[in-house]
Amino acid sequence: MKKETVLVTGGAGFIGGHLVEKLLQKYHVVVLDNLSTGTMMNLPESPHLDFVFGDVSQEEDVAQVFATYTFTYIFHLAAVASVAASIENPVETHHINMNGTIYLLHAAQQQAGNIQKFVFASSAAVYGSEPTLPKKESSIIAPITPYGIDKWASESYVITYSQLFGLKSSAARFFNVYGPRQNPTSPYSGVLSILTDCFQRVKAGDETANFTLYGDGSQVRDFVYVGDVVNALILLAESEESTSEVYNIASNQRHTLLEVIGMYETITGEKLPLTYQTARAGDIQKSYADIEKIKELGFVVEDSLETGLRKYY
Ligand SMILES: NC(=O)c1ccc[n+]([C@@H]2O[C@H](COP(=O)([O-])OP(=O)(O)OC[C@H]3O[C@@H](n4cnc5c(N)ncnc54)[C@H](O)[C@@H]3O)[C@@H](O)[C@H]2O)c1
Repeated sequence: MKKETVLVTGGAGFIGGHLVEKLLQKYHVVVLDNLSTGTMMNLPESPHLDFVFGDVSQEEDVAQVFATYTFTYIFHLAAVASVAASIENPVETHHINMNGTIYLLHAAQQQAGNIQKFVFASSAAVYGSEPTLPKKESSIIAPITPYGIDKWASESYVITYSQLFGLKSSAARFFNVYGPRQNPTSPYSGVLSILTDCFQRVKAGDETANFTLYGDGSQVRDFVYVGDVVNALILLAESEESTSEVYNIASNQRHTLLEVIGMYETITGEKLPLTYQTARAGDIQKSYADIEKIKELGFVVEDSLETGLRKYY
């Protein structure tokens, strides 16, 4: 029997690569990616995987993919995933993170009869620094960066397309995702990828290895293992109930950065050299989620921070 076809934009990225790996167990997967931060090394070899080199912010690239394939599910992950990059380059980021979403929705709408779900990768950044915690999906939306604003606007388009044009869709607000193959090379990479890289260098005897802590380390985050994020995304795609809804994707565990470093020191048996610097613009002091809504769909957090870090290290 012919497998159903799924589109993953940004499939060569950190989260996308893990998602593609899992989807291949069941579906034919098409990845649309311009490899700006992603890499082919994140993608497995498979006769059921087609890679399309293209840019979601170029309408003709998007149209071409939809002219070639008919999709059952769409996972839209392609984005400039760095908050700091969005502050440095708001115009370019907006073109990719916002216009790219509209081009995809517009193209997907032509196949709305076939598409079971359009799932959008949003972010906890939509909540901004408004202090009420934990963040529920109904919490105040107050993004403080171009990245957060574009994620919020994209989410709104995604849900509105569902209501106006019958394109079934859901949005997933990821909190801090971590796991293998997260790229540590940019100064804006996820903090756990930089930490993991530093610990690996300390272990290898690199005396220059040093971790720069912005702020005093008391910032609180809800770290979620990438395997749990993949499970959540597939659950949202396959569930009828999630149509036109927005969900937090997190682990419901709260840790300060200093606690994370301490946990990692116990796991690795290494002491991490630290340098303190002032907090960065746009950094939020505390961010953690209420995940009751997605749990009602059957979502279960499989990895604690400790088991996730052991897999990652
Ligand atoms: N990692 C996190 O903690 C986190 C948290 C919240 C939200 N998100 C969102 O999840 C998604 C995936 O993030 P990630 O951490 O895997 O980042 P990533 O940078 O590893 O992946 C993004 C992918 O999108 C591709 N891409 C970027 N611009 C593109 C364009 N114009 N056209 C086509 N492809 C393009 C990149 O090459 C890369 O493969 C992003 O939408 C990000 O905003 C991530």
